[in-house]
Amino acid sequence: MRHLISPLDFTVQELDELLNLATDIEFHPDKYKNACNGKKLATLFYEPSTRTRLSFESAMLSLGGNVLGFSSADSSSAAKGESVSDTIRMISCYADICAMRHPKEGAPLVASTKSSIPVINAGDGGHQHPTQTLTDLMTIRSLKGRLDDLVIGLCGDLKFGRTVHSLINALVRYKGIKFVLISPKELRIPDYIRQDVLVKNNIEFREVERLEDAIADLDILYMTRVQRERFFNEEDYIRLKDSYILNAEKMTLANKDMLVLHPLPRVNEISVDVDDDERAVYFKQVQYGVYVRMALILTLLEINVTD
Ligand code: CP
Repeated sequence: MRHLISPLDFTVQELDELLNLATDIEFHPDKYKNACNGKKLATLFYEPSTRTRLSFESAMLSLGGNVLGFSSADSSSAAKGESVSDTIRMISCYADICAMRHPKEGAPLVASTKSSIPVINAGDGGHQHPTQTLTDLMTIRSLKGRLDDLVIGLCGDLKFGRTVHSLINALVRYKGIKFVLISPKELRIPDYIRQDVLVKNNIEFREVERLEDAIADLDILYMTRVQRERFFNEEDYIRLKDSYILNAEKMTLANKDMLVLHPLPRVNEISVDVDDDERAVYFKQVQYGVYVRMALILTLLEINVTD
């Protein structure tokens, strides 16, 4: 039995196979509509979510399966003090696979050690968000045609933004990847990513504070919101929240084929006047998130669909 806790749990070859499957699902959805008949997905969300939880549910329903779960810690027995370890033992009796989001880093990993069903990390604190990474990889591969030889700008809250941490971990395994890390000083990438991932893997990267100094060099601009819920005090959040606002004027500085991604939700870091620019692909990204989660469910449940 396999879990998905970190993007590194899959080799590059396994990731390619998963993305191929997701693409087949995109173009031949009918082939998969009964693949999970009789199977149940539990969504255990101890933190708010719109996209991740609903895209998992949409994915399982599109595969012919069923879903159950909770969408906040308050509406589960966590509010009475039940541990993640105990909860996952119950859920293993109710479902065939589960997706867990938790504010504590490592909670899905702990759950996986006690689980008798596959556990998917749907975001743990400021740590990792591997299924967002699968979504991002599918978006880039589908729209750029490759995952190598790209200059990728990561902009915003690189300290607390778990999607950024997971994406860097995944992309350093492809050749010719360069990063431009665009953030205020206070929200720079953590050392455990800079040193242990970027430096250790000899990845070319530079750190800048102004988006205008980098945007012209980029193939991909990955915008992120400032993660209010991870700040220790509101004053710091208010001071930093408007550090970057991508608007139509700044887009004139970018290459004509640069893509703008965002894991969403956005607050105000991308102005709505960018939405109609054909390079803005963050809503397409949401759709890819469903296909890739369908592929992940099939892979972890070891369900093969033949022509
Ligand atoms: N991208 C993402 O994780 O969105 P949600 O928080 O809405 O799930």
